[in-house]
Amino acid sequence: MKIGIIGAGNIGHTVAKLFVEAGHEVALSNSRGPESLKDIVAELGPTAHADTVDNAAAFGEVILLAVPWNSPEALPHSDLVANKIVIDAMNPYGPNGQVLDLGDSTSSEETAKRLPDARLVKAFNTIWFKHLAEQGDISKPEAQRRAIFVASDDAGAKAIVSDLIREIGFAPVYTGSLHEGGRKQQPDTPMYGKDLTAEEAQQALSSL
Ligand SMILES: NC(=O)c1ccc[n+]([C@@H]2O[C@H](COP(=O)([O-])OP(=O)(O)OC[C@H]3O[C@@H](n4cnc5c(N)ncnc54)[C@H](OP(=O)(O)O)[C@@H]3O)[C@@H](O)[C@H]2O)c1
Repeated sequence: MKIGIIGAGNIGHTVAKLFVEAGHEVALSNSRGPESLKDIVAELGPTAHADTVDNAAAFGEVILLAVPWNSPEALPHSDLVANKIVIDAMNPYGPNGQVLDLGDSTSSEETAKRLPDARLVKAFNTIWFKHLAEQGDISKPEAQRRAIFVASDDAGAKAIVSDLIREIGFAPVYTGSLHEGGRKQQPDTPMYGKDLTAEEAQQALSSL
């Protein structure tokens, strides 16, 4: 599968490496331009390349958003992700690291307003990048793997992202719609940053 990665920092770089290792082609992008990603691309090998944000979005059948949520200018042009699966790994932190109060909304619902025709899935936002790099284990049965929470209003997009999560050794655990599930995945919630197996995560969700 072709995957466009928007943001090549802690999360973008880590996910790119895991997807390359799982046999996918990735295009990485950042704010400074492809030249600044030369070393990362060399490390990832021939199935990775660097490009501009818009070109990485155009390349991807699936696009990962791994830029600061509070910088909407970092996102690709919305036409380039129309009808494509977009994984939102972003969290709504403000300029001083504070969690922003979005009222009745959630950060991925706000992302959906910015990219209205994208098939949005909120995932990878609750796991610290070092755990993401180290804790995947495809040899384990799914119930014993570390959970990665997934929220979406699009069943088909959710299924494809869930398979990508399985391929890199984690277990997708569905929390609900972007509104209900997205809220359970926000910073300062019981699920956020928790190192739970899929089995433990399902139990924790059922007691919420
Ligand atoms: N760190 C974690 O463990 C973690 C875990 C889960 C979710 N997240 C979420 O993932 C997102 C990224 O976090 P991170 O820790 O990976 O951040 P990071 O290491 O600071 O990387 C941010 C990336 O976004 C790019 N970027 C910033 N502004 C941009 C712009 N205007 N246009 C294009 N690219 C831009 C940066 O490019 P340049 O370097 O060229 O500026 C960089 O590649 C955040 O929303 C965060 O809440 C982080």
